[in-house]
Amino acid sequence: MQKSPLALSQIFEPIRADLERVDQEFVRHIQSHVDLIPTIGKYIQGSGGKRIRPAVLLMAARLGGYTGDRAVLHAAVIEFIHTATLVHDDIIDDSELRRGRLAVHSRWGNDITVLLGDYLYIKSMAMALTHDTLELVRVLCDVTLHMIEGELYQLTKNFDAAITEDEHFEIIRRKTAYLFGGAAQIGGMLGPTTTEQQEALSDYGYNLGIAFQLVDDLLDFTGNAVALGKPIGADLREGKMTLPLIHLLAHGSPRGEEIVREVMANRSASESQWNELMGLLKEQRSIEYAERRALESAERAKKRLRLFPPSAEREALLALPDYVLQRDR
Ligand code: IPE
Ligand code: IPE
Ligand code: MG
Ligand code: MG
Repeated sequence: MQKSPLALSQIFEPIRADLERVDQEFVRHIQSHVDLIPTIGKYIQGSGGKRIRPAVLLMAARLGGYTGDRAVLHAAVIEFIHTATLVHDDIIDDSELRRGRLAVHSRWGNDITVLLGDYLYIKSMAMALTHDTLELVRVLCDVTLHMIEGELYQLTKNFDAAITEDEHFEIIRRKTAYLFGGAAQIGGMLGPTTTEQQEALSDYGYNLGIAFQLVDDLLDFTGNAVALGKPIGADLREGKMTLPLIHLLAHGSPRGEEIVREVMANRSASESQWNELMGLLKEQRSIEYAERRALESAERAKKRLRLFPPSAEREALLALPDYVLQRDR
């Protein structure tokens, strides 16, 4: 029998105190004379995100032998960037809900939300610059630029039923994987690590990020809206083709393609269309295919940690890809 994966709270146990400090740091840096900023900042901070990216940074820092207190600040920086991407992404995707409550734009409108996202981006870079660590800021700029390119590239492929698997992977690498990679790499850069170790950490995060996004896309078919805190089937309605559908269409499914085009055109799916599509995905083993690709990336992530001697942090980082594969939120 397969060992059941650990819960996120168990995996994060070695860094629990530091993660709490990350949240305090987050709140400290959204203080402003303009009340809206701390008001919305606290709304986001208290809405129950998983904190996976800051946790990766904290654990990577310890794995790399870092014992100082700067990891907490940089973990908050990563969460700021992630938060900025989410508030903008929900406008772009026209998603009403995030983390089980109203998305920031649903509550405060697009104008305020765009500016809040901008504020978080620039603030994150300013925070990273409080220490004289230009190399870290360079990594942050790189991954953030990749992320924006990924979101833009995705827009050019929206409503394109003919998108290829390679094009799709290009999107998820950019929009998600590099930020995970950057979190792990920056953690490593804080400590007395070799270039080889930093690269291993960066690769770990990158592959974890690919698995994470593939699973996010799978949950749009197989998940539970209440657990997820966002609706199911939204990607296709928004015109986003993800790996299971790309696999289905690449294997010649005229009926599948017909449904995909109809749902995209109407921006909505009837229950019978959705059920038929799910049936086709099952028949063609397209869900299994995407699950296998996620598993491969998760295994690739784990392999990169072999470079480090055993420790509680290494165990936790090894457990994370397994959590990501079975997560329901
Ligand atoms: C959501 O990320 C955006 C994706 C890359 C799919 P998370 O699922 O990590 O978001 P929170 O922070 O836990 O809400
Ligand atoms: C992830 O993409 C968002 C970013 C990395 C900016 P999605 O659009 O799939 O994320 P959700 O589904 O809205 O959380
Ligand atoms: Mg989205
Ligand atoms: Mg999604």
